[in-house]
Amino acid sequence: MDPIVLTHGGTKSPPEWSDGCERAARVGAAVLRAGGSALDAAVAAVRDMEDDGRFNAGRGSCLRFDGITLEMDAGVMESTGRIGAVAALRGFRHPVDAARAALETPHVLYAGEGAALLARAFALEPWEGGASEAMRERHRKIASTWGDPAARRPAWRDADLGRLWNFRTPLPPELRPEDTVGAVVRDAAGRFAAAASTGGAIPMLLGRVGDTPLPGAGFWAGPHGAVAATGIGEEIIRRLACRGIHDRLSAGVSPAEAIRAITETFPGDVAFGAIAVSASESGEHANRSMAFATARP
Ligand code: GLY
Repeated sequence: MDPIVLTHGGTKSPPEWSDGCERAARVGAAVLRAGGSALDAAVAAVRDMEDDGRFNAGRGSCLRFDGITLEMDAGVMESTGRIGAVAALRGFRHPVDAARAALETPHVLYAGEGAALLARAFALEPWEGGASEAMRERHRKIASTWGDPAARRPAWRDADLGRLWNFRTPLPPELRPEDTVGAVVRDAAGRFAAAASTGGAIPMLLGRVGDTPLPGAGFWAGPHGAVAATGIGEEIIRRLACRGIHDRLSAGVSPAEAIRAITETFPGDVAFGAIAVSASESGEHANRSMAFATARP
């Protein structure tokens, strides 16, 4: 089989950021060239994007509503059916490594403190760096427009933040968000793998978990291919979007067409995009700009 790595930088990532996706795809392709599996390659590609700083994952993760807290989600899956994921992970540089660690255990998904203790048990690299200046700036921007309900995402338009506030720190006078990184891989042995990582989607309350660590929602790999999604997590979860795309691959629909079909189920004001590989093809589609890349070993 013709091996390939696809990466994306999240919905709304501008095309100028494609260099980051290309570098990550090349990192994944190098892993395949060296004999690594599809899963090894997908994890390596996502690790690379977690370090980029521009993408909303790893050290580029967005802040929660309070402007202080970073909680990250990640998930990995290979077509053998092995799955690992972490939700609301704090304090580690590579959430995707923690998801990979979860895959090596009897469980699928670890959350919060348990996820952090698992990462520590696997001696993963801590991250105390906090949010990037770019993310702090984005937080400031959202905060400064929060007073105008028309400028908010639809789900938040009528929200009474004073009632919902679940942080220990008081509600700040101002508030802030965007998206996920992902990789899908087909290796020479015909195995598929998907990996995804995110800081979440703005705005977020404490403990909110999006689609990224949820199998079938933010990622999926099965006998017919691998899929990774990006966009507004709540809407992706409702549609189990990646599983829906994989189901279409299994019916012989091409990856790009399968993603398009699911994209059409999202209202226009909800950002959504995905990348996918099947046994013979690969494709991507998004209803917003989305930096992406492919590489072959
Ligand atoms: N797609 C990322 C999130 O909603 O958390």
